[in-house]
Amino acid sequence: MDERRYGRLRNWMEEQAVIFARDVKGDYIQEHIQVTDSWFNISGVGAYQHPHCHGNSYLSGVYYVNYDDTKGHVSTHFSNSESLYQQYKPSLNNLPIKYTDYNQDNKVLSNEGELLLFPSQVIHGYNVNEGEDRVTIAMNFMPTVLTNGDYGWRVVNLTQEERERAFNARKGLADHWGTSRELNPPHGMSDLPNPE
Ligand SMILES: [Fe+2]
Repeated sequence: MDERRYGRLRNWMEEQAVIFARDVKGDYIQEHIQVTDSWFNISGVGAYQHPHCHGNSYLSGVYYVNYDDTKGHVSTHFSNSESLYQQYKPSLNNLPIKYTDYNQDNKVLSNEGELLLFPSQVIHGYNVNEGEDRVTIAMNFMPTVLTNGDYGWRVVNLTQEERERAFNARKGLADHWGTSRELNPPHGMSDLPNPE
């Protein structure tokens, strides 16, 4: 959403993120909150998204661009399960055999034009979508200044050269595992890798 045509939408999202941080999370925001990255998700029939969370990010959001649950567009669900994707904690997975109020995903019912904000570490995804053209914009937010009292740091977007260097470093490992086709190169990358 760096582009000028998204400017008003981006400003509004950043204002909502500040309200969420201050009034819902109760956090001190030294200066402002910025969108650090964003992307469209365009889902056809049968699309789904595995449970995941967003690293290196403070808040995340989903803006529902084309969304109508009466046409089969599936809602986003959230999970507070401690056993899923908490890879740095030991976990004991007992075999679940019954859905209760305490062990299942919570769907959040949304409407087109709404922005759904949540802390980035919360696990989320969606089940199989049943309608064409479910379109959302997803984004991450960081405070412009992250502080914990006497010290802090300013969060800035990387330069294009820095982003490409990080991408190439990551691509090296992905090439090793044969998964580099799944990586999205930085927007406007000058030396695009061979799609093969
Ligand atoms: Fe996500």
